[in-house]
Amino acid sequence: MPDVKLTIDGEPVAVPTGTTILKAAEHLGRSIPTICYHDHCTANGLCRICVVEVSGVGPLVPACLTPVNEGMKVTTASARAERSRRTILEMLASAVDLSEAPEIQKFIGEYRAQGARFPEAQRREYPVLDDNPMYIRDYSKCILCWRCVQVCAADAQFTYAINFTGRGFETGIGTFFDKPMPETTCVFCGQCVGVCPTGALKPKRESLLEQGLRPDEIIEATRGGGNRRGKPR
Ligand code: SF4
Ligand code: FES
Repeated sequence: MPDVKLTIDGEPVAVPTGTTILKAAEHLGRSIPTICYHDHCTANGLCRICVVEVSGVGPLVPACLTPVNEGMKVTTASARAERSRRTILEMLASAVDLSEAPEIQKFIGEYRAQGARFPEAQRREYPVLDDNPMYIRDYSKCILCWRCVQVCAADAQFTYAINFTGRGFETGIGTFFDKPMPETTCVFCGQCVGVCPTGALKPKRESLLEQGLRPDEIIEATRGGGNRRGKPR
């Protein structure tokens, strides 16, 4: 494939046609922050933390899914892009439990985001779903990055056990007809847990260990099918 030539933060780079700005920047050793993006998932541009400025283009563009163009001039860390990233982080912190999201916590520190900037914001709070022996679902920690849905679907497993539910503020991740996991097509492959960046999906054993159970109690608790649903830990 012919190379496309562009500049990123004033530095020239040539990358194959179809390369995204994110990957072109990595080529130069530059890191653009990402949250919803995962190397093994289809980019959907949901979180917008990766926005950059492109000369001659009005809106900020998401680096994770915008392909490079010949002659493009990209600025990855302009004041405008950084302000946008900071606001996104502040909105996330105001509504979601990020206590087990170390990458996002790191960005919050780097961008000096104020977690208390929107004190009136309604927090997304849900009971922990504990309905199977393999993993728990704590959607109070969910940032709706969609990675779990993607790996459950056409990015990996082709199982389609979960998807978006609801609309607007009520948008969430769930099963069809809100069924418990064992009653869905879930094969408990664990790929959703593996790509979740916030601890919203967590191995049951890890959760029980955190609750102070002994190894024999954990084995006992995870041997059979889970039957508690919506019960807080
Ligand atoms: S459960 Fe995890 S992987 Fe799934 S959308 Fe929420 S934060 Fe993303
Ligand atoms: S990382 Fe690009 S939109 Fe989320």
